[in-house]
Amino acid sequence: MLPPRKKLIPILWVGEIRFNPAEQTATVSLGTKEKVNLETIRRAGGAIAKWTAKNKVIELGIDTASFSDLGFAPDKIALALAEGLLLGSFHFDKHKSKKDELAPANIYFLNDDFKQTLEQATIICEATNLARTWAHEPANIINPVTLAERVQELAKEVGLKCTVLDDKQLTEMGAGAIVAVGQGSQTPSRLIVLEYQPRAKKDVSPNGEAVQPVALVGKAITFDTGGYSIKTTLGMVGMKYDKCGAMAVIGTLVAAAKLKIQTPIVGVLAASENMISNVSYRPNDILKTLSGKTIEVISTDAEGRLVLCDALAYAQQNFNPRAMIDLATLTGGVVTALGSTRAGLFSNGDALANALFAAGEATYERLWRLPLDEEYFEIIKSTDADMKNSAGIAKASPIVGAIFLKQFVNDETPWAHLDIAGVSDWDKEMPYCPAGASGFGVRLLVEYLRGLE
Ligand code: BES
Ligand code: ZN
Ligand code: ZN
Repeated sequence: MLPPRKKLIPILWVGEIRFNPAEQTATVSLGTKEKVNLETIRRAGGAIAKWTAKNKVIELGIDTASFSDLGFAPDKIALALAEGLLLGSFHFDKHKSKKDELAPANIYFLNDDFKQTLEQATIICEATNLARTWAHEPANIINPVTLAERVQELAKEVGLKCTVLDDKQLTEMGAGAIVAVGQGSQTPSRLIVLEYQPRAKKDVSPNGEAVQPVALVGKAITFDTGGYSIKTTLGMVGMKYDKCGAMAVIGTLVAAAKLKIQTPIVGVLAASENMISNVSYRPNDILKTLSGKTIEVISTDAEGRLVLCDALAYAQQNFNPRAMIDLATLTGGVVTALGSTRAGLFSNGDALANALFAAGEATYERLWRLPLDEEYFEIIKSTDADMKNSAGIAKASPIVGAIFLKQFVNDETPWAHLDIAGVSDWDKEMPYCPAGASGFGVRLLVEYLRGLE
């Protein structure tokens, strides 16, 4: 890789690629020094990945000599470039008779100093690509039951503890909201719990107390028809991606285990399929949740908050978490507000909100904080139950979704809700991700968790 040459860069991030067949080398411009940043480098990595796939490059040794000229720590440059390369080589052709024939090149840095950076990037990007792959699987392949089986198998492979609660156990336990959402489906709800415990050293604090885990809670609606509050024909397309919050949680736990992160982590995945049948839940049904609070259903399409309220209560009751973060493709309103550029961030505490915001800037999985004033609760007060699951009017819907979830979290527990409906899948190709699932959240959460060490 040569130092950046100003005149060769017509579009900042594309990175002009010049191939020398005699020497079998390619030079890539990463950007002008004034304008280059870690995201432009990631994007250049994505462009190189496309180029190597198209040109059937088998092996790519990266010359790191120019890294020190770009004004960033060289290992940050190596990480960003590796991320672009590894994420940019993702494609989902499992169900195609004719495969894409886009084998990724085997990449390495010519300078051994970056070996560990590459290993870590590989772990994080493989976890992101796993989240993407599973997100792409349609609802006739991944449903709550098959998801639980997959997660159990995966947990065994990577050394995570996994417990699955089925609909009977959930009913007995009193988790009436998650059970109701799944009751119209042939494959009923599952609550999937993943536990990561770091080995030795720091699993007790200096004063001998057990270290509290971070709880990550994910919405895993394997398909969202809307239920009796049915979606439109086009509004329903893409609803296989309504499990992306949980896919991010799975990816994060896999990466955490492989990176041997020092913080204990619990992942709680709330898996249901929101279907229509003669036994589905209905508008006006009153549900008793695990927390004891009751909910009047206004819209069966506001199902995400219903499965999550039981998952949040479960995490809170069983794990005494030091912080809880939930990820969910919760509202169309957040897509209207923030588009596909940033996810909505809600939190009951500034420290957690700021830490997550900073992790978003660092990874370019960006967030924007939205308010949580108590007044927003007014419009979901119910005459017949403790609250309604929807205001029934299109007013501040992402905030109303968040204020609903807040009712199920103790005020003392730092909690954040990420509404990722706009960023979890893209309808067009992005610099290091083809159209479809983005895996949003894995890099963000890993960055946040590493910041706790
Ligand atoms: N899964 C949807 C949210 C969604 C919409 C995700 C578009 C991705 C793209 C969610 O379950 C939903 O339907 N939310 C409703 C809530 C409303 C009824 C309060 C919405 O946003 O319309
Ligand atoms: Zn819905
Ligand atoms: Zn949904």
